[in-house]
Amino acid sequence: MLAVHFDQPGGAENLYLKEVDKPSPGDGEVLLKVAASALNRADILQRQGGYPPPPGASSILGLEASGHVAELGPGCRGNWKIGDSAMALLSGGGQAQYVTVPEELLMPIPEGLTLLQAAAIPEAWLTAFQLLHLVGNVQAGDTVLIHAGSSGVGTAAIQLAWMAGAIPLVTAGSQQKLQMAEKLGAAAGFNYKEEDFSEAALKFTQGAGVNLILDCIGSPYWEKNVHCLAVDGRWILYGLMGGANINGPLFSKLLSKRGSLIASLLRSRNKKYKQMLVRAFTEQALPHFSTEGPQRLLPVLDRVYPVTEIQEAHKYMEANKNVGKIVLELPH
Ligand SMILES: NC(=O)c1ccc[n+]([C@@H]2O[C@H](COP(=O)([O-])OP(=O)(O)OC[C@H]3O[C@@H](n4cnc5c(N)ncnc54)[C@H](OP(=O)(O)O)[C@@H]3O)[C@@H](O)[C@H]2O)c1
Repeated sequence: MLAVHFDQPGGAENLYLKEVDKPSPGDGEVLLKVAASALNRADILQRQGGYPPPPGASSILGLEASGHVAELGPGCRGNWKIGDSAMALLSGGGQAQYVTVPEELLMPIPEGLTLLQAAAIPEAWLTAFQLLHLVGNVQAGDTVLIHAGSSGVGTAAIQLAWMAGAIPLVTAGSQQKLQMAEKLGAAAGFNYKEEDFSEAALKFTQGAGVNLILDCIGSPYWEKNVHCLAVDGRWILYGLMGGANINGPLFSKLLSKRGSLIASLLRSRNKKYKQMLVRAFTEQALPHFSTEGPQRLLPVLDRVYPVTEIQEAHKYMEANKNVGKIVLELPH
């Protein structure tokens, strides 16, 4: 089968399609024939050599995929049959014509959605759902500040926060991105390149501050984050796109707010946790995915690239051009 491959860590020009062995499903696993996968920042970090796959995971890029069940491994419980369409949360391996996945990490494709749309759901939406509900304990009425509001995770988090009855606020680096975030349900958006988002968030909340921050930026935002955090607020760090080092009195500022700083990663969580997350998301969020209706959730697709254009897809993401997800279509 064909799979996205690189011989040496480095730039996007190192990526190419390589003929590799088709995997076979182990105990309790399903073989998925992949129709589409999607890009994540983690792919770029892994390609650069900064984010190795966790032990036991495929070294092929791709944290999510949609397609059809092609084979059932021994010990499968009969929840899936050959030919079923499905989408999957993966620890790797999605950017290939076939991938194996524990059967509990497969999800049905919501009615009316295409395989291309479905490929944009698992990683971003499960991350956003986990951060808001399992890690952040979001409550109706909470104000939630979502950084990188137009990212794959951000576009999912806005919709899920809104559905939970919370008030999503976002930051983004352009007017076009802020407009998209507001269309998805953000109550306000702040261009971090043009204004101090912490002052804007304090103004919006009439000085009370935000109850929850979803932060994938890190270093350059720490002081502004703690400045606009409400008393007893939760600040969830789940990415470091802006850097990892800080210099300053974070502890005293956090202490004065009685704030919680919580770090979270999804890929390295164990199978039991991921199964629980997939089950909760399937029950609570998937029924709301639809192309119609006021309460609907919808993945935001920026572009679809044939997987043969994997280099261009990486360059597009690295240039911060996407609003929502970049999807990769695999050859039939
Ligand atoms: N912890 C987890 O479990 C987990 C899981 C999935 C993803 N993540 C993290 O979530 C984040 C988003 O991932 P994604 O794949 O959804 O991203 P994405 O779609 O590629 O979007 C990223 C956006 O972030 C903004 N950005 C990039 N660098 C920035 C910086 N230095 N300062 C401010 N904004 C910056 C850019 O938009 P602007 O034009 O607005 O700047 C960019 O388009 C990443 O940090 C990723 O590692 C974490």
